[in-house]
Amino acid sequence: MRSRHDTAADLRVEALRAAVGDAVWAPSIHNTQPWRFTSRGSRVSLRADADRRLGVADPDGREMLISCGAALFNLRLGLRARGLDPEVVLLPDPDRPHLLADVEAVPGEEPEDYTRLMHGQVRRRRSHRGGFTAEPVPDSVLAAVRSEAETEGARFIQAVDAHVKGALAALNNAAEHIQRRTPSYASEIARWAPAPGSRRADGVQHESYPRTAPRTEPHFAARDFARGRGWGMEPANGTETPPAGVVLLLVTAGDEPADWLRAGQGLQRSLLRASEHGFAAAYHTQALQIPELRAFVRTHFCGAGHPQLLLRLGVPDTEDLASVRRPLEDVLTEEP
Ligand SMILES: Cc1cc2nc3c(=O)[nH]c(=O)nc-3n(C[C@H](O)[C@H](O)[C@H](O)COP(=O)(O)O)c2cc1C
Repeated sequence: MRSRHDTAADLRVEALRAAVGDAVWAPSIHNTQPWRFTSRGSRVSLRADADRRLGVADPDGREMLISCGAALFNLRLGLRARGLDPEVVLLPDPDRPHLLADVEAVPGEEPEDYTRLMHGQVRRRRSHRGGFTAEPVPDSVLAAVRSEAETEGARFIQAVDAHVKGALAALNNAAEHIQRRTPSYASEIARWAPAPGSRRADGVQHESYPRTAPRTEPHFAARDFARGRGWGMEPANGTETPPAGVVLLLVTAGDEPADWLRAGQGLQRSLLRASEHGFAAAYHTQALQIPELRAFVRTHFCGAGHPQLLLRLGVPDTEDLASVRRPLEDVLTEEP
């Protein structure tokens, strides 16, 4: 017969597994899902899976750690949603830089409405890659999104001035141009953009981008996942020149691994809040992958901060786009 003790331990194993199941629904650069989890007793450890780092576009692993930070936020939220309090130690061992966090799940309170609402968005949130409708993002939503990022130690700078928006769009477009023409960047994109019919459970699938990206105003060039092969979804029948949406730079005070993890947690927290109100983000990280352009963005648009991501926020002009994840057994090791 099972003892009460066994049952409690089994429930905890279930809760930890389910929370890791939430974690993997985080956004990640090119859907690389560069994470590994190990659970033991009441503890879950998060490691970066360096084999999934983009060697060309992300040699320092900055975007890999932003992605892992987003997964860490989902993990924390998933634990809270199941009545467990996550006690997090970031980068617990300087000798093991890929060990990003140790999370101890201790018994906590019943989840509040806020937690339930945010948790409800974990599997609903999607990255967007097209235009937005003309519906504005209300100030109250923008304020909430900003405050979620700040709670995690990151910050959004909004490009309000049309010239600033235009300059960021131009930098993005220059970077996209360079990346398309540079074989090492282009072949890296090709590696993470599987052809239609692929059974892969990672990478940017053809059902998650429009066949022809609309020319937003100002125009932010999208990544070349289709590589001229005509892949992608039927574009939305919206206006010919949809608005670009609210243009935001996610910045952090420092530029070290702990800052990247904070950026990722702040990003995911903000995205879930935006998703709750029907808003989604389109990412344009091209310019921040080219060191000279990143330095330029920093000097001219970020005050004392370091730019981590460039986003557009709005109401998507398409239905929910598809996204895939690897099965849990590929990313979670459960130790006895
Ligand atoms: C750090 C980071 C950078 C990203 N950069 C881009 C980008 O430049 N272009 C793009 O279309 N999507 C970008 N994305 C979005 C990912 O492609 C997306 O999260 C992934 O494909 C999973 O899809 P989902 O977010 O809809 O679940 C980025 C995501 C992260 C976390």
